[in-house]
Amino acid sequence: MQIVVDLNRCQGYAQCVFLAPQVFELHGEESLMFRPSVPDDQRERVRRAEAACPVQAILVGEP
Ligand code: F3S
Repeated sequence: MQIVVDLNRCQGYAQCVFLAPQVFELHGEESLMFRPSVPDDQRERVRRAEAACPVQAILVGEP
C-alpha cells in the first residue's frame, strides 16, 4: 500500500497521527511527515486515517 498526502489540503487536524502514529507524524501545527510505503500491519490503521481526515488529504493506492 502506498500513500500520498496532499500537503496543500492538510490543515493539521492530526486524526491520521492519532489513528496511525507509526505512519504519520506532525511537526509543528501543519508540517506533516508520513511514510509513503505502508507496512502491511498498518494498512487498516491507514484506511481509518484516510476516512477520518476532515479534508480528505490522504490518498491511498494499492499497487
Ligand atoms: Fe492533515 Fe488530515 Fe492528517 S488534515 S494532519 S492529513 S487528518
